[in-house]
Amino acid sequence: MNRILFVRRKKKKPEESLAKNYRVHCVDSDTDAWNVLDKEKFDAILLWMEEDSAIEEKRLTQWKDHVEWNLVPVIAVLPKGSSVTEEDCFEWGMAECLKEPLSTLAVCRRLEYVITLFQQDKKSDINEVEQNDRILNLQHEVIWSMANLIESRDGTTGGHVKRTWTFVWLIGRELLREGKYPDILTKEYFRNMCEAAPLHDIGKIAIPDYILKGTTRLTKEEFEEMKDHAALGGKIIQETMGKIEDAAYLKIATDVACYHHEKWDGTGYPKGLKGEEIPLCARIMAVADVLDALAFRRSYKEAMDIKEAIKIIVDESGTHFDPTIVNAMLAIHDEIEKRVTESQNQMNRSEE
Ligand SMILES: [Fe+2]
Repeated sequence: MNRILFVRRKKKKPEESLAKNYRVHCVDSDTDAWNVLDKEKFDAILLWMEEDSAIEEKRLTQWKDHVEWNLVPVIAVLPKGSSVTEEDCFEWGMAECLKEPLSTLAVCRRLEYVITLFQQDKKSDINEVEQNDRILNLQHEVIWSMANLIESRDGTTGGHVKRTWTFVWLIGRELLREGKYPDILTKEYFRNMCEAAPLHDIGKIAIPDYILKGTTRLTKEEFEEMKDHAALGGKIIQETMGKIEDAAYLKIATDVACYHHEKWDGTGYPKGLKGEEIPLCARIMAVADVLDALAFRRSYKEAMDIKEAIKIIVDESGTHFDPTIVNAMLAIHDEIEKRVTESQNQMNRSEE
């Protein structure tokens, strides 16, 4: 049997037949209603509206502060002569509006209709959330598969994608904690940036093997060709993922791929963007990418001590890197050093 919260005025009793069809709980004030709603669940609320519309509007604002308005349908009951209109009620988010005098049969029918409709909506909301989760999981798997595919062709010693993701996550979380760039760095931006980080070098897919897998430093010509991977990466993301509905993610993934080699002083590539012209996600990716490149072995160079790598990044704060991001990295250098040491030890063990 469905449960109804009956928020009455003037101690009005629920009609007997209503009590026969529903488990009715009566309260005589809004405060009592909020207390009960804190502890118990109801399938609908019948709320008497007895004051003028300005007072009732204020009252409903208080209701919304106390009760999650979308979790239970609220049905307004308007006494004869009330200045509150049906339009007011629907505008305030009520599910239904009844006018006195009430016919018990009509109340029961409307209650049944509202509760059924609300439960169906809730079910379809849950289905939609589940479906969105499935799509997000699939998208996550595709992103990491693509990233691993790129890494398998690359001259890195493996693990670069995962480690740079970790650095982006650590630095991004610190910036969030410090409240830096609040207009850009929302939690959603942070999530999208972390999901975009594994694809930062996707453009390398179009770079020839002899450049990617070379065991010596690149010649000037080879380096020029390698530089194309940034702009190509942005283009590949637009072409392969351009049809996904998540425009915010698409923009961040494109920015990360295209601009992670830009430098704060404008001497980077592909566009020579300067300072905050470079998208924030790409500035964070730049620190993560260089940190990993310095601290880990490549086919053409040995690994550097992590403290030394951090020092190089600090030295290039304000020239190569955004000083705010470098400061955030410094604030968590212990955590970064710990992660790098763990990762190096793991690599050494697997090589033994
Ligand atoms: Fe790159």
